[in-house]
Amino acid sequence: MSIYGDYIKSVIRTVPDWPQPGVNFRDITPLLQNSAAFRKLIDSFVHRYQEMDLDAIAAIDARGFIVGAPVAYELGCSFVPVRKKGKLPFKTISQTYTLEYGQAEVELHSDAFRDGDRILVVDDLIATGGTMLAAAELISRSGGHVVETSAIVDLPDLGGSQRIRDAGHSVFAVCS
Ligand code: PRP
Ligand code: ADE
Repeated sequence: MSIYGDYIKSVIRTVPDWPQPGVNFRDITPLLQNSAAFRKLIDSFVHRYQEMDLDAIAAIDARGFIVGAPVAYELGCSFVPVRKKGKLPFKTISQTYTLEYGQAEVELHSDAFRDGDRILVVDDLIATGGTMLAAAELISRSGGHVVETSAIVDLPDLGGSQRIRDAGHSVFAVCS
């Protein structure tokens, strides 16, 4: 957790029973509307990763892009989108996965990384961990080295971050 973790958590809204009964949806829009909070959020990532010699930020469609792009800009490394199926125009590799509320597939351009590139994976939230694991698998398949997986929020009760650690990846979340 980051030093700003409690503060960041306080500006995230929980919406019960959305998009379906039983899901407590963590809505980051109040955090994004608050410029001071958004700055602290990006600073949390930049502070953690500025000495880690990253080559690229791989950010997950769509909410991961909101964090990934400013972090890549600040760290001076490249930005690579991991996108939902059917959105990338060039040659892709893909991976299916199960969501807290559905089934999905993510894709990566086959030329996104060079062998051994040091990659940080970024998303807004880890629930079951399926999305993050699918993204990490794609990156490994394309020759990249996943330095860490990261998110604004981890929901540890859903077991995702443990699943990701069990698969051999490090996990960082600003709050949980
Ligand atoms: C949400 C969230 C994460 C994922 C987490 O994305 O942004 O990517 O679910 O769930 P998991 O840990 O169980 O895989 P969603 O597919 O809803 O897409 P969005 O960012 O486009 O809203
Ligand atoms: N993605 C999957 N589960 C979620 C949740 N509970 N809140 C926000 N995004 C999610």
